[in-house]
Amino acid sequence: MIKPFFKSTDKNFYLLHGDTNELLPQFEHKFDMVFADPPYFLSNNGLSIQSGKIVSVNKGNWDKSEGFEFINNFNRKWLTLVRDKMKDNATIWISGTMHNIFSIGQILTELDFKILNVITWEKNNPPPNFSCRFFTHSAEQIIWARKKEKVPHYFNYELMKELNGDKQMKDVWKLPAIAQWEKSCGKHPTQKPLAVLTRLILASTKPNAWILDPFTGSSTTGIAANLANRRFLGIDQEKEFLEISKNRKLEIENPKTSELYRNKIAGFIDKKQFSMFIENELPTADIKVALGFCRSKDLESIKNSKTFYFHAVESNNIVKDFPSDLFDATKLLIYSGGRSKTLKLTGLYSEIKSIALKHKSKINGKEKSETEFYYEVILSDNFKESDELKFPINPKKLFDKSDDKNSKLMQHFLPALTTWNRVINLKNNSKSES
Ligand SMILES: C[S@@+](CC[C@H](N)C(=O)[O-])C[C@H]1O[C@@H](n2cnc3c(N)ncnc32)[C@H](O)[C@@H]1O
Repeated sequence: MIKPFFKSTDKNFYLLHGDTNELLPQFEHKFDMVFADPPYFLSNNGLSIQSGKIVSVNKGNWDKSEGFEFINNFNRKWLTLVRDKMKDNATIWISGTMHNIFSIGQILTELDFKILNVITWEKNNPPPNFSCRFFTHSAEQIIWARKKEKVPHYFNYELMKELNGDKQMKDVWKLPAIAQWEKSCGKHPTQKPLAVLTRLILASTKPNAWILDPFTGSSTTGIAANLANRRFLGIDQEKEFLEISKNRKLEIENPKTSELYRNKIAGFIDKKQFSMFIENELPTADIKVALGFCRSKDLESIKNSKTFYFHAVESNNIVKDFPSDLFDATKLLIYSGGRSKTLKLTGLYSEIKSIALKHKSKINGKEKSETEFYYEVILSDNFKESDELKFPINPKKLFDKSDDKNSKLMQHFLPALTTWNRVINLKNNSKSES
């Protein structure tokens, strides 16, 4: 088992420290999308201009080339290992410049990937050419490929068209280079702008998708992924860069900061478009959903709260029988009703940030409760209310036949665990029955 360098409390952001080629074979997980910004091998002691000053182009030892064979072997190795970690319908994006992009293209073909596009990211503000003997280098290439020739990939055609003023999105993206506010947690020499990563993530993944970055640096990929409600694992061999990554994630755990960043990211029609888009995206079917009971008279008061309590152990030491994987739930839906009233979802829901066991003495207002221990559910934000999530629920229909346990828990007004898919199926059935 690899011990992560960092694991966020919402379990949506993981960092591993070490050589990507050594770590990748050590875990079993298949990803929906990969973004890789591998070494460009351009640290050749040349010079460039940055903010009016002459600077060395050297980025670090990880970026030094030892010739074409070396670059090919390096790319072949990591691409083989990464391909093994991709789901069959997954896609990969790889950014580069002329120093490595031809090698990457050749190896992708050799390994049976299917190249879908070569995106040209045209920078609005490139550094001038120092020698005045060539054109100014003002673009980077990003190859987009899918794992299998015959297995279709996901592409959000409609959103991309919308972002391009209702015309098909082209393979030339004019987006600014990195902005100062993106460096609030320290500098990485080749940090990518969030605008580029956000666009490619929204184009090629659904909510909750798992995204891998095998050369994560400051984890622009992970920050864009989490801001768009996708999950992330990043690998880097430099602790210094992983510290920046970790701090960037901690920064966006504050919902106000993440909202501010969503408003600032370039490439959208207006500053609210990114937030509005993700709010309307439906989660994928298999995410785990916790169902929590609330008496109807308490419903009004929980609306202003960011915590919710499940009874765990009563004062007579009876342990409530919980579904063990409740801890993996990412959403909480509140149900009410009972006794002579029909059980129903109340429309109140929220994203879960964390769940932990807590003694009543540590919970304001519950010190005298008959329940000794509670599971304290911390929410990412206050409860939201949706008419779409208000409908009667029949425990027998909400769970599959083999899941008698959750069905019974619900009849005792205890938390139960189901999936988003089942909730939506039940909703559609309750509509057709009414
Ligand atoms: C081009 S940078 C990635 C920058 C990143 N896209 C960002 O926005 O910050 C490449 C990163 O790969 C890391 N790296 C290079 N070779 C590696 C290897 N074999 N295993 C793990 N990390 C590696 C370097 O430390 C560097 O941070």
